[in-house]
Amino acid sequence: MRILAPVLLVLTATATACKPAVDDSADDDITADVVYYPDVQQYVDSQCVRCHNPDGVGPFDFTDAETFATFAERALARVEAGTMPPGVSDPECHEYVGQEHMSLPPEAEGVIRDWIAAGKVIGNPDDAVAIAPVVAELEEVDLEVRLEQPYVPTYSDERDDGNEYRCFYLDPGDEDIYIRALHPIVDNPAMVHHVVLFTIPERDVPEGAGPDGVDCLSMSAGEDGMIAAWAPGMLPVELPDGAAITVPGNQTLVMQMHYYDAAPPGSSDQSGYAFDLVDGSTVTEDVVMLPLGDFNFRIPAGDEAYTHGASLPLPALFGGAKFYATFPHMHVLGTGYKFWIERDGEEHCLAESERYNFDNQLTYVFPDPVEVKGGDTLHLTCTWNNSTSNPHLIHDPPVEVRYGERTDEEMCYAFTLASFNR
Ligand code: HEC
Repeated sequence: MRILAPVLLVLTATATACKPAVDDSADDDITADVVYYPDVQQYVDSQCVRCHNPDGVGPFDFTDAETFATFAERALARVEAGTMPPGVSDPECHEYVGQEHMSLPPEAEGVIRDWIAAGKVIGNPDDAVAIAPVVAELEEVDLEVRLEQPYVPTYSDERDDGNEYRCFYLDPGDEDIYIRALHPIVDNPAMVHHVVLFTIPERDVPEGAGPDGVDCLSMSAGEDGMIAAWAPGMLPVELPDGAAITVPGNQTLVMQMHYYDAAPPGSSDQSGYAFDLVDGSTVTEDVVMLPLGDFNFRIPAGDEAYTHGASLPLPALFGGAKFYATFPHMHVLGTGYKFWIERDGEEHCLAESERYNFDNQLTYVFPDPVEVKGGDTLHLTCTWNNSTSNPHLIHDPPVEVRYGERTDEEMCYAFTLASFNR
């Protein structure tokens, strides 16, 4: 495991499983009188409509009860298979901000099944349980940076068919800025696969980087200066009071866009990033992104479940740190990961999933910062399916795969927002 700054940490928070708040009546007597409102609606509105709405990434508009009823059998099949909602970190591992919108509570599957069996009765919309909308925008925006003009990807890299990595240099100004919360402004969701935000010294901006940016496959996602990574479905990242990411005035922002060729030919994009800033005098915790990763794996061709990992023992004398959020990242062979702290022989889980989903990569924000301390060991393992049973396999027949930035190479990261105790 590699780490960019000397780390050490205090850990008081223990993993707690949090049960999403749902209407208890659904637990009780599920018989013939299961109706859409509110028995099924409460799950659909909190778990499905953030993607399945007219502007969302998912097909069908599930804000409409009749539409859900029409596709209910398909929905149940996907819920039973564990593929909808898309896989996220297991809430049994650790609590996350917004997790009530990430995974269905265990009883939901039975409720949907009983509702279908009882004839898919819609009931009275007035009985709907009010579900607060999942807000995918920052509440307060102090600064926005955007591509200067719409960009049309060319997808000309033959080794990475249908993908383009493009870096745009967006100067936030000459003043130091202190970021409390941030979220991308995605202009064309049909082609934006992910967005990574870096800071670099202004003098490192390549010559000839105009409004159309530069091709930047070679920009390592593990390089210094990454401050955020976003993929569709992700909520804004907000830091607690006193914590902020500093971007000095002599640095500039680099927005690395991963475009994929899913929009009609000639489609353009003019995405950007929105920031909620605080005054520098209020900042007590300097937050940085630690690219914790495993780089030394060789995934054998044909292996259906190959696991490899890395560990980082923290020296006993280290002063401690806080972890605010973590972003597990692999490419299309990835099926699972586990990131945890070992302390005094005990395991403190930070993020774990057995159904990693390349199309649903999230930053998991801890409700309270996790304290990490000297003597702790950080562990990360990743599991990949490099066999023909993986529908996302790129090389068929499979080939040995190692660390690399291309989509047909692999990664194993837990990008972690952290501050070091002063
Ligand atoms: C993070 C976004 C997201 C969430 C949340 C989500 N879906 Fe999906 N869903 C998708 C996308 C994207 C697809 C299309 C790709 C695929 O089929 O996997 C899809 C496909 C589906 C399909 C398949 C449609 C077909 O062609 O048969 C069903 C059914 C479905 N989702 C049901 C659900 C249900 C039920 C929920 C909530 C319990 C849910 N989804 C939550 C993004 C999402």
